[in-house]
Amino acid sequence: MDLLEYQARDLFEQFGVPVLPGRIATTPAEARAAYDDLGVDLVVIKAQVRTGGRGKAGGVKLARGADAVEKTAAEILALDIKGHRVETVMLSPGADIAEEYYFSILLDRAAGGYLAMVSIEGGMDIETLAVERPEALVKVPLDPVEGITPTVAQRIVTEAGFLPDDHRAVGEVLQTLWRVFHESDATLVEVNPLVKTGSGDIIALDGKVTLDGNADFRHPEWEQYSETTGDVDLERQARELDLNYVKLDGSIGVIGNGAGLVMSSLDVVAAAGADLPGAPKPANFLDIGGGASATVMANGLRIIMSDPQVKSVFVNIFGGITACNDVANGIVHALDMLGDEARLPIVVRLDGNSVDVGKAILAEARHPLIIVKNTMDEAARAAAQLAAEGN
Ligand SMILES: Nc1ncnc2c1ncn2[C@@H]1O[C@H](COP(=O)(O)OP(=O)(O)O)[C@@H](O)[C@H]1O
Ligand SMILES: [Mg+2]
Repeated sequence: MDLLEYQARDLFEQFGVPVLPGRIATTPAEARAAYDDLGVDLVVIKAQVRTGGRGKAGGVKLARGADAVEKTAAEILALDIKGHRVETVMLSPGADIAEEYYFSILLDRAAGGYLAMVSIEGGMDIETLAVERPEALVKVPLDPVEGITPTVAQRIVTEAGFLPDDHRAVGEVLQTLWRVFHESDATLVEVNPLVKTGSGDIIALDGKVTLDGNADFRHPEWEQYSETTGDVDLERQARELDLNYVKLDGSIGVIGNGAGLVMSSLDVVAAAGADLPGAPKPANFLDIGGGASATVMANGLRIIMSDPQVKSVFVNIFGGITACNDVANGIVHALDMLGDEARLPIVVRLDGNSVDVGKAILAEARHPLIIVKNTMDEAARAAAQLAAEGN
């Protein structure tokens, strides 16, 4: 679960990370009021979207005076940044930036631990820095139990090459950011830029926080984030329907029963699409688990089909405890329930328990959207072909 910048700012503030004041607005008039409320001359107006590089996309602008603020806010609120519509902006006082640094703590899955990354050459986007000046990006593995203690902080700031005068102030911010990471069950806390101001203060000027959804049971306060997830939020809708759904970037919707089967479906679909025009890829992970009732199937199809990128759907079912005839009935009833909402071809592969009865049910339904294939490979190829044609 990715937080918006203003939510990360609020979280930082709660832990005592130095941040600037922030006010949010969803209309130019609200931005004017927020400006008056901040009571400073120069402000920065920032698009609140879940993607980086807002600055380069025109989503971070300075403005001075209420009229200019209103006009700039209107421009930013009209933007679409990498497919994310800007619905909210945050206003903060314009900072007097002397230096920009980069700092992050992340879950390093490959190493099975946490990693702190830091650079005194911030400002640049980190992917570019990592490629062009890898030696300027210092990586320090963190012990998950001890985290960033004063000693570890001292090591990080020294290795990164901060001036001795800044060691104490920066080190304290890093320790506090570790507490944010650890106590908030985050998998990423990134501050780019962490800045030093003209008067020598260290401030987190931008914040990116990813929370580990698996820990939501012990964070009732995360409820506040669920309303703001905006366009990405097929995932939220799916969660409310108790569906195990992860949105991906492609155009072939995938539904299966059992996480392992769905994972291999993703691989097979990606392989099938690789040589086709536009190389269609899986659009999502969706495991409907055992007992694929019509309602579960309808909910799954509805979520997948409300993703505008999706051009075809691959339903891959291995009948075990849930027999194929139940699933087949589920699919047919789901399509009845969806009516006109069902708009895309659905390639179905059934195997296992009661497969013949299941196939007979689908054949009898003669539904124009249902295409039955006998093997996983054939079905994946058909779904990929349809997605390629739909491009
Ligand atoms: N409060 C501020 N005052 C002055 N400049 C700012 C302020 N906040 C951000 N900036 C500048 O804008 C740049 C981009 O802002 P940032 O919040 O990092 O967005 P993004 O990383 O999405 O581009 C920063 O690197 C910084 O130079
Ligand atoms: Mg940034």
